[in-house]
Amino acid sequence: MDGYRLAAPILFALDPEKAHSVGLRLMRFASKTRTEPSPVETSLGELANPLAIAAGYDKTGAHLRSLSRLGFGYLVAGTFTASPWSGNPRPRVARDRSEKTLVNALGFPNPGIDAFVLSLASQGQIGVPVVASVSGKTEAEVVACYSKVQPHVAGVELNLSSPNTPGLKDLREPAAFAELAQAVKAAKVKPTYLKIPPYVDEAQFGGVASLVRRWEDLGFEGVTASNSLPIEDPRMAVGRGGLSGPPLLERTKAAVSRIRRASSLSFEVNACGGVSSPADASSLLAIGATTVQLFTALVYQGPSLVRQILADPDFRLSSRTR
Ligand SMILES: Cc1cc2nc3c(=O)[nH]c(=O)nc-3n(C[C@H](O)[C@H](O)[C@H](O)COP(=O)(O)O)c2cc1C
Repeated sequence: MDGYRLAAPILFALDPEKAHSVGLRLMRFASKTRTEPSPVETSLGELANPLAIAAGYDKTGAHLRSLSRLGFGYLVAGTFTASPWSGNPRPRVARDRSEKTLVNALGFPNPGIDAFVLSLASQGQIGVPVVASVSGKTEAEVVACYSKVQPHVAGVELNLSSPNTPGLKDLREPAAFAELAQAVKAAKVKPTYLKIPPYVDEAQFGGVASLVRRWEDLGFEGVTASNSLPIEDPRMAVGRGGLSGPPLLERTKAAVSRIRRASSLSFEVNACGGVSSPADASSLLAIGATTVQLFTALVYQGPSLVRQILADPDFRLSSRTR
């Protein structure tokens, strides 16, 4: 029996936020994943495999070495902001164990970008590329955070899609986005991905697709599709949050295939949302995703899920034939 199965009943008896921080600390005892690489060439360099932990799992970036031992091809840390944020009032995370979903309204609690840079330096070699997720309430905050972190990481994911930080929606308005994207481009020295909101319907995604087109036209490397789905939820102190887990998979497929159809082959699409099995991960690679990120399924299934995906023949084949 793996360690996660022993720990799971205790973790699920705890409040979800507490359980997450205990789980992260226990992760350093997880056994190292030893799977043959299924290499993939991306703008981050050659990855050992196209599977990654999504933003928000390691919000402080203090657990990257433990996460790299699980076998991921790269890691997304954060989301970080220019100065420390405490996030929204609690309760701000809830589980639905029967659906294997989470709802979160965290609102970016994080130690700030300076603390992350120091923490990263103190961890030594992580062993796999690290991507920093950054955000902010204004263009100036976003660009300050972006500029500070670039020298220390392999790439950056610009998060303008969290449903829990009201100002972000304003930064996605076409004029504000055009200005922000220009400012980010002027400061860019590392591969940079835009994390977009999930597919809701054709009208809504049409608006998202025009942001993606502008992003690609400016020469950015790719996008991460997608963030959690905004929903009303009375369990959250703020009354709403972002849904994650299996119900997002079909939306992720819709987003990936639409972006893939509309963009050049070299534009990278990191698929994220609802991946909870090897078949889910390989189906996203098969429709044109460059890499696959996951979060919620790791909470419910533990590190053995990563091993199963990396050992899966279809996943390995889809990765090689990309
Ligand atoms: C508790 C929690 C916190 C999250 N925090 C962030 C975050 O800080 N930044 C971000 O871009 N996405 C964040 N996300 C969204 C995930 O990165 C991912 O886009 C989403 O959960 C869908 O993937 P999944 O179904 O595999 O969980 C968070 C998700 C959860 C469940």
